[in-house]
Amino acid sequence: MSHQAALIPSKGQALVVESIKTVQPGPGEVLISVSAIALNPIDYYMRDAGFFIVNYPAIVGSDIAGTIEAVGSDITSSSPFKKGTRVLAFGSTFYKQGQPDANTYGAFQQKVVVPIETTAVIPDNLSFVDAATLPMSVGVALTGWMNIGLPIGTRADSRQAVLVWGAGSSMGAGATQTAKAMGFTVYGTASPKNFEGLKSLGASRLFDYKDPEVVSKVLDAAKADGLSLKHVFRAAGDMGGSDLPPVQEILKASGGGAIASTVILGEKAPQVEGVETKFVQGSEDADERNKFFAQAFHEWLAPRLAKGEYTPAPKARVAGSGLDSLNKGLDELRGGVSNVKIVIEL
Ligand SMILES: NC(=O)c1ccc[n+]([C@@H]2O[C@H](COP(=O)([O-])OP(=O)(O)OC[C@H]3O[C@@H](n4cnc5c(N)ncnc54)[C@H](OP(=O)(O)O)[C@@H]3O)[C@@H](O)[C@H]2O)c1
Repeated sequence: MSHQAALIPSKGQALVVESIKTVQPGPGEVLISVSAIALNPIDYYMRDAGFFIVNYPAIVGSDIAGTIEAVGSDITSSSPFKKGTRVLAFGSTFYKQGQPDANTYGAFQQKVVVPIETTAVIPDNLSFVDAATLPMSVGVALTGWMNIGLPIGTRADSRQAVLVWGAGSSMGAGATQTAKAMGFTVYGTASPKNFEGLKSLGASRLFDYKDPEVVSKVLDAAKADGLSLKHVFRAAGDMGGSDLPPVQEILKASGGGAIASTVILGEKAPQVEGVETKFVQGSEDADERNKFFAQAFHEWLAPRLAKGEYTPAPKARVAGSGLDSLNKGLDELRGGVSNVKIVIEL
């Protein structure tokens, strides 16, 4: 058996679609027939700069939705993961690079093997296109909150606030909804055109991150609302940390706190005493990581999707159909998007 896959032939080269051997899933894994792939910035960093890639040709990509075609021998008939089940999955190669069969994994192909821990059953009323926008966004949001002391299961009261900086991004939409579900009052920064959409996801107040008075406006609002603000999710920004001073100022004035940063901080990024910044990343221990993913995808996300309590956001925009469209979609994403998730349908 074979299927089509979009391979990066060598460092910095565009994706090329080729036929490759279809590998059957091993223990604890499922083979997914992919219907939609959502794109993330890391995908074009990997294509264009070779980040994390050990061997070529390589297959990259993370976010997929589709139908289970086969399951590993240890997955019993009582499992929700069976042939024909509609699922979303974090089908990343990050943790598989260096393995001889690394190209079994990676979202940019018609058939992908994924561990069941990073797979969630989706309800019939959720389209594959919308479902594909979720795995990275939800996984990163829950990881980031955990990294700054707010693990899955945290229950906050609404006098505790978090600030999502860059809430208009895909990671920001995940951070907004996950924090709201924990019980926090959520403040966010975004471009004003995105305010209404973010309110519908649960943000109570939105601020324009380009407003020179953003710091005093956030602090005044927190005071007026009687809130304690100790945690920030930095969903967007740059490695130099040019966006950090207002965030640090807000936390410093709130008596100190922690920032979960999706963006790696360069050596010259500003530091402020009493404000800790942690890069968002999962555990390096595979067992611990799998335990986290199972909790995030099986216990946290799947039941909320079934009850319609989680909204795929930002809205998906289908930028093409077929693996051949991936290069164009990645170029579009690299050019910059606002409050949209680019998806390729297969
Ligand atoms: N650590 C990890 O594991 C991990 C995983 C995934 C992604 N990331 C990183 O997280 C970042 C966001 O990824 P994404 O997929 O969510 O991106 P995205 O959806 O493409 O982000 C675009 C949005 O970012 C907002 N934005 C851009 N610059 C901003 C700034 N200076 N301040 C506030 N908001 C700003 C814009 O919001 P408005 O339209 O409202 O202006 C825009 O809509 C990327 O740097 C990505 O590499 C890290």
